[in-house]
Amino acid sequence: MGFKTTQEHELLRQQIREFAETEVKPYAFQWDKENYFPAEQVKMMAQKGWLGIPFPKEYGGMGLDALSYAIAVEELSRTDGGFGVILSAHVSLGSWPIYAFGSEEQKQKYLVPCAKGEKLAAFGLTEPNAGSDAGGTETTAVLEGDHYLLNGEKIFITNGGEADTYVVFAVTTPDIGTRGISAFIVEKGWKGFEFGDHYDKLGIRSSATRQLIFNDVKVPKENLLGKEGQGFKIAMATLDGGRIGIASQALGIAQGAYESAVEYAKDRIQFDKPVAFQQGISFKIADMATKIRCARFLVYSAAERKEEHEPYGMEAAMAKMYASDIALEVCNDAVQIYGGAGYLKGTDVERMYRDAKITTIYEGTNEIQRVVIAANILGKEPK
Ligand code: CAA
Repeated sequence: MGFKTTQEHELLRQQIREFAETEVKPYAFQWDKENYFPAEQVKMMAQKGWLGIPFPKEYGGMGLDALSYAIAVEELSRTDGGFGVILSAHVSLGSWPIYAFGSEEQKQKYLVPCAKGEKLAAFGLTEPNAGSDAGGTETTAVLEGDHYLLNGEKIFITNGGEADTYVVFAVTTPDIGTRGISAFIVEKGWKGFEFGDHYDKLGIRSSATRQLIFNDVKVPKENLLGKEGQGFKIAMATLDGGRIGIASQALGIAQGAYESAVEYAKDRIQFDKPVAFQQGISFKIADMATKIRCARFLVYSAAERKEEHEPYGMEAAMAKMYASDIALEVCNDAVQIYGGAGYLKGTDVERMYRDAKITTIYEGTNEIQRVVIAANILGKEPK
């Protein structure tokens, strides 16, 4: 085990950092304040090919590896965590299951435009009564002739309303638990498919999060993803990869807050010297840097395992759990280093502190990550 970024990885990092510095950073405060989805900048990112980073060229992607994708999410999130998750939800959650489980026709019809950046994708799993217990899905899909009739509600959906293509999970066979859940590809604009209002969130306010509402939506039979009953496994496998995305997002937020705090600490003079050289602050900086380095190892090595087709579910859960926990700690320290100034709106560490919190909650709370990690180590509990 061991990872090494190549010159190509570092070149991509540089390009994305430049884009984030010029096209995202100047507006991040305003987007956060106004709960504004930056469609124009997402389009610019699409034109650069980044919405298809890890997908093969034959499907319209860039044909790069999982580590390149992790670096992309990290770099965008270093400037704006909300912007980073737009890419993560599009690639890992909305597009990847079509790539991994779709038929050739489905890939041509849905993956290619997503990978080319012509369409945005999203993932509809969470429901009011099925959060951590994703198997408690209540949305139903009933086969009627050549289509399924989809009814139900999904909540907290990243890219909700902005995305064109949704991978949605619904019960096709009731009363048999997770084996009765199936996955479907659903298009925005279909009759009966509507969106709730934008949630007014604590952080990641530049990402759109909305409720999906299905009222007798006719989903053609050919939009069943995989086989009937395979949906829960598709969701779980998708989340394995998605957690690398969120781990990268958390890592990027931590990196951004850390850099900002170091810069501030070098400039801020108290007791006749920069606060960076007061031991209380310099030790904080040392701890922040160490935590970020540990997180980066975990995140990149999970990406590397995914790329090499080694089992990576546990490693992705570890990366997501650790990177998000330390992102919160690092952001907390960054605000502390800024002191009163860090408590004011308009200071980037204030926004990052709020943005970081969601990373310990979504794509599986960190308590669920521990369930996943322990299950990988211990196996099933004896009956
Ligand atoms: N890959 C493939 N299959 C898997 C799997 C995986 N990683 N994990 C479990 N499975 C299979 C099991 O093998 C089992 O198969 P069989 O029926 O053949 O035995 C089946 O799925 C059921 O497994 P479990 O009994 O372990 O399922 P469970 O009901 O106990 O739930 C859980 C397990 C890990 C708690 C799961 O419910 C879970 O991950 N919950 C968290 C949900 C989550 O992460 N939601 C995030 C929503 S998306 C989001 O947040 C995105 C965003 O906004 C950006």
